[in-house]
Amino acid sequence: MKTYFPLDRLRAESTPFYYYDMQLLDETINCIKKSAAYPGFYVHYAVKANANPEILKRIAAAGMGADTVSIGEIKAAIDAGFPAPKIVFAGVGKTDEEIAISLEYGIGCFNAESEPEIDAIEEIAKSQGRIAPVALRVNPEIDAHTHHYITTGLAENKFGIALSMLGRLIERCINSEYIDFKGLHFHIGSQITDLTPFKILCERINALQDEYADVVIPTINVGGGLGIDYDDPDGNPIPDFKQYFDIFHENLKLRPGQQVHFELGRSVVAQCGSLITRVTYVKEGVGKKFVIVDGGMTALIRPALYQAHHKIENITSTSPEMERYDVVGPICESSDTFGTDELLPTTHRGDLIALRSAGAYGEIMASGYNCRPLPSSLFSR
Ligand code: LLP
Repeated sequence: MKTYFPLDRLRAESTPFYYYDMQLLDETINCIKKSAAYPGFYVHYAVKANANPEILKRIAAAGMGADTVSIGEIKAAIDAGFPAPKIVFAGVGKTDEEIAISLEYGIGCFNAESEPEIDAIEEIAKSQGRIAPVALRVNPEIDAHTHHYITTGLAENKFGIALSMLGRLIERCINSEYIDFKGLHFHIGSQITDLTPFKILCERINALQDEYADVVIPTINVGGGLGIDYDDPDGNPIPDFKQYFDIFHENLKLRPGQQVHFELGRSVVAQCGSLITRVTYVKEGVGKKFVIVDGGMTALIRPALYQAHHKIENITSTSPEMERYDVVGPICESSDTFGTDELLPTTHRGDLIALRSAGAYGEIMASGYNCRPLPSSLFSR
C-alpha cells in the first residue's frame, strides 16, 4: 500500500481533483533559493504552469517574482502577493488594454516580441505620461533538443525578435522618451533535461553582449525550460537546480551589476501535484482490459495533447497481483488515454488512481469540454 498519499482524506473527496504536496513545494522552493544564491540572480515563477491561488501565495511568500503572459495572470499574481515591480509580462499578443492596465500597476518589465508591440507600448505609455520598462525577447536560434542551430524558418516563428532585426529595435527603444530599455529576454523551450542547450544559450548571449558592447543592458532574462523526471516522481522529486544555475553562473559572462532573470514554471510545481481520479469501471475488451477513470483529458490534457506520459498508480488497491490495463478517461475522444498496457495491481471499481507529476500544466489547462466540471484541489496539511 502506498503511503505517500493521505488516503483517508483523498477517499472522502469527490473526484477528480488535484492533490498538492505543499511540503514538497516548499522543499523545491528552498532548493531553488539555495541553488540560485549568486549575486544578480533573480527567479520569476512562470504563472502559466499553475495559477492555483494557494500555490501562487506560497511562491510569492518565498520572494520570487512572477513571469506572466496575460492580464489575467498579472491579476492572479498581484492577488497572491507578488509585488508589481517583480512581475514581467511576456507574450506575442499583448492587447492595448493589457498594456494599459499593466502600466498602471507598475509592472517590472514588458518582454516585447515585435516592432508593432513596441510601438503600442510606447504610444500607451505616452498617453499615460509614463515610461514603460521594456526588454526585447530575442530568438537565439537554438534548438533545445538537438543542439543544432536553426538556420531557416525564422520568419515562421511567432516568438521573439530575429537576430537580424535586433540592433535596430534596441536603438528604437533606447531612443524613445517613453521606453526604459531593460535588456534582453530569451526562452529556448520547455522540459529540457539535457542541459547542454542552456550552455549554448550562455555562449550565444556572451556573443551578443560583445556585439552590443556599447549598449547598456541592465538585465539578461534566460527564460525557463528546466525539465523534470516524469518517470520517477518519488526517486527524483526535486530537479537538479544546482547543476542548472551553476551552468549560468559558470558560463554567462556578466557585466558588472548586471542582473540575470530566470523564468521557471514546470520545475517549480510539477512534482508536488497529482491528479486523483476514481475508477468508474473495469471493462473487459477483446484482448485487453480497460480501467475507465472519472477524470480524463478535460482534467489533464498533456497525454492527449503532447503524448506525454504521467506515472499512473493505483493508490488504494491492496492486491498483490499485477495486471496490464489501458487507463482511459470518460471523454468522447480516443486520445483520452492516460496509458496503454500499464502494469497495475488488480484494479476494481472505486479504486483511486493517481497521475503523478501533474502540478505543472495540469489544473491550469483543464477545460469544460463535454460539460465536465473543472477539477477541484486539495492540499497536504
Ligand atoms: N518563459 C517563457 C517565455 C515561456 O514561454 C515558458 C513556457 C516559460 C518561461 C516556462 O517554461 P518552463 O520552465 O515551465 O519549461 N503546456 C506545455 C508547456 C508549455 C510551455 C510554454 N512556455 C506542457 O504541458 O508541456
